[in-house]
This record gives sequence, structure tokens and C-alpha cells, in this order.
Amino acid sequence: MAARFLEVDDFDLVVFGASGDLAHRKLIPALYHRDCDGQLPENARIVCSARRDYSHDDYREWASLALKEHVRDIDEAHLNRFLGRIYYVKIDIGSGEGFDDLKKILNERADVIRAFYLAVGPDLFGTICEKIGRAGLVTDQTRVVIEKPIGKDGASAKILNDTVGAVFDEHQIFRIDHYLGKETVQNLMALRFANALFEPLWNAAHIDHVQITVAESLGVGGRAGYYDTAGALRDMVQNHILQLLCLVAMEPPESMDADSVRDEKLKVLKALAPISEQNMEKVTVRGQYRAGASAGGAVPGYLEELGDQTSTTETFVALKAEIANWRWAGVPFYLRTGKRLAQRVSEIVVQFRPIPHSIFDEEAGTISANRLIIRLQPDEGVQMKVMIKDPGPGGMRLRQVPLDMSFAEAFKVRNPDAYERLIMDVIRGNQTLFMRRDEVDAAWTWVDPILEAWANSKDKPRGYTAGTWGPSASIALVERDGRTWAEDGL
Ligand code: BG6
Repeated sequence: MAARFLEVDDFDLVVFGASGDLAHRKLIPALYHRDCDGQLPENARIVCSARRDYSHDDYREWASLALKEHVRDIDEAHLNRFLGRIYYVKIDIGSGEGFDDLKKILNERADVIRAFYLAVGPDLFGTICEKIGRAGLVTDQTRVVIEKPIGKDGASAKILNDTVGAVFDEHQIFRIDHYLGKETVQNLMALRFANALFEPLWNAAHIDHVQITVAESLGVGGRAGYYDTAGALRDMVQNHILQLLCLVAMEPPESMDADSVRDEKLKVLKALAPISEQNMEKVTVRGQYRAGASAGGAVPGYLEELGDQTSTTETFVALKAEIANWRWAGVPFYLRTGKRLAQRVSEIVVQFRPIPHSIFDEEAGTISANRLIIRLQPDEGVQMKVMIKDPGPGGMRLRQVPLDMSFAEAFKVRNPDAYERLIMDVIRGNQTLFMRRDEVDAAWTWVDPILEAWANSKDKPRGYTAGTWGPSASIALVERDGRTWAEDGL
């Protein structure tokens, strides 16, 4: 089946931090792919800015190298057309030098859509927005894109949102959570709301529990400086994992309209049962990787990578979350994420309850409860574990098999990176897959007390060997409830 795309109107996209890692690995490749597919209007421009003293051609060379590193099968004709869209403006954010040049370029086409992508650290968001405002660059058709982390806690998120909000209206602010742009994450909505099969069972009467695992095999590497100020709870749970939880748990929205979807996600976040100092021990586990082996080679521990033996930043977290509402009362959501785990895998596992009564005799074997596995990466797909009769003679023997749907096999199309879709949504002005301010606030309201309880605790994160599934306490967290982490889909 051929991929289709929706056209977008003419635009100028300004990238701040254009010589950084995000632009290199994600933004430039994403825009190139959209251009190759013919989605970018003929005159669309990408205006890149950073502090380096580059000419337009120097930056085009930099972008071309980025593409050669991150994109397979570059087509020279496409490449040249794409590079022709790129302009470079040297900007010093601190002094504001360069904003006049930017203004000159943008004012050549003041009537087209204008998007500012702040691919910089959050400490610069405020200054950049203020300078954009002061330079008079905000038109009716302007949007701004900001990346996480949106704050370190609820209070700093408020300040950050206020600063950005002083220049841009909420409908112009696109807070990216790239997990929402992943193909399978959107498929979760298709699965739930475009099929009659699941929704009647999607509640505490039929679902025993849900597991969300986002495991990475890599360590923090060159990002140790940033990571040490964040940790797994802020870096992954406050945003990506809670967003996944929302999509699993939300009520059917009225439509795919941005506010309908975000209203429902917000209700889930508000219904999360608070974790306090009293129950913190029982429902949270934090870990930090020690030296070990990954991909067959020896790897250093987090503290060695960081070069600071005193850090208590967690590189692993497991939590038992509960949603206090009618649909989910009593259904635990087990969440875990970590660096340097045994495998890179992200999955949502929905474990159904056992059948109420078996009509089969003992020889039939154990009847395992149904399990739905939504695999985000790698090998995106959906698997439903069902019981069948073992084929052939020998009586009624039952076994569990996967009804397997691998997207790569089923659809022979390239799986677009999340950023491709999200950038096009920004241009289109569609905020469905972006976080609204109140969602960010509600997520911090749940996360803040955990951070506080950890900060007040004498305990340090538990060590785990790189290349394993994290501290054994995370296994105990689930086993205490008579359950196990699902390893069969992994
Ligand atoms: C980022 C985190 O938001 O997501 C990183 O800051 C993490 O620490 C990354 O590695 C994971 O994204 P993906 O798309 O590779 O699963």
C-alpha cells in the first residue's frame, strides 16, 4: 500500500540550535524525507540559526553530512533541491545579534506560516521567545515548538510556560513529546477506537493490569551532563511514559480534535493516585547502572561515565501507578524505564483477566489469560495472545499462541520517524499530538511528590549491572502483587 500525505501550506521554519544534536539526528533528516515525498511546498524555506560563523553554503554542507550519516539511500537530485531550501543566520541569543538579519529574511514573506523550532536547552526558551517578540516576528500564522524537559518540577515548569506564554498564545505553542508521533503510539488510538473488539473489555472488569516498559540498551554517553540534572523519572516518566499511560487509559474522546483528545488525557493525569512518602517504598524503585556488559562488550557504570562518584541520579525507575476512577479502580499500571538494560524495547502489555470458569479437563493444560502486546520499537507491531487447541490428534490440549501483526511485514512502507509527522503537524497547526500546558502541570503534580520523597530519603538508587533488567527490587515490585513482568513479548 502506498504511503499518502496531506499537503501543507507554504511556510518558513526557523530552527534555533541548528548546529546541535537534535537538528543533526532528527530535524534535518525528517525535513529531507518530507521533501522527498513531495510534501513540502515549492517555496518552503528552512532558516537555520546558531552561533557558529557559517555561510549559507557552510551550513548546507553541514546538513548534507548529517543526511549522509542518518539517511539511507540519499538521492542526489532530491538532496540538492532540499539543500536549496536551507538558509543560515548567525544569531547570538544572549546579545540578540543576528535577530535583525533573521527579520529581514522572514519579512520577505510575512504572509506565510512561520514556525520557530527551539532545538536548544530550556534555559534559552525564555530569552529566545522574548527576542522573537521584541523583534516583532510573531504574526497571526506563527507557532513555536519547544522540546522537553519542560521544567525540573511543577514550579519551574510554570515559570517556563509563563515566559513562553508571555509572547505566544497557547494555540501557538507546540510542546513536543516525540513519543506521541511514533507510528505505533498512534496505532494505539486506532486499535482502541477504530475497532469494536477491545473497548467493551477495556476496563477493570476485564483487565487485570497494564505494563509499560521503555527499555534502552544504551547508556547516557555524551549526555551525562544533562542527564545528571534530570534522571529517568524526569527524562522519561513525566512525559513519554505518562503520555502512553494516558492513551491507554483515557475515555474515548469526542473526536480527534486536539482539545477533545487532550481533555481526556488530562482527566487521566488528574485521576492518578498520589504517591507519597508513606507508600513510596512500596510502589517505586530507582536504580543506577554499574559497569557490566552490553552488546557483548564491557561498558562502564553511570558514575564512571559521569566522572562523579557521588551522584544519586537514577538511570532506572519502576513504579506502580493507579488511576482512581470508575474504569480503572484496582488495576495497577506498572511502569518501568531505564538505560543500559538488557535490550532496547518499548512495549505496552495489557493483561486480561483469566476466564471465569474452565470447561476443559486437566489434560488440556493451563489456560493462560489473554494478553495484548503493543510493540512500539523495535519491530513495531501488535500481538494478541490467545488460547487455541494444539493441532492434531491427542485430545483437547490447549496452548497459547500469538496472533501476530508485524507492521514492517504487513505494510511494505518506510516507517516515518516521529519528527516527520510532528513537524508537519506544527505547520498544519494541528496540536492533537502535542502537550497542552495543563497536561504538563498535571504530570508534574503527580511526579513532584515522588521526587520530593526520594530527595528526603536516606536510601540511594539501587545498583544494577549494565545489560540486565534493572534492580531485583523492580521484579519484587510486581511479584509482591502475584504478577510478573511480561518477558514473552520481548
Ligand atoms: C528522549 C530522552 O526524550 O527520549 C532520552 O531524553 C531517550 O534519554 C529518548 O534516550 C528515547 O527516545 P527513543 O525514540 O529512542 O525511544
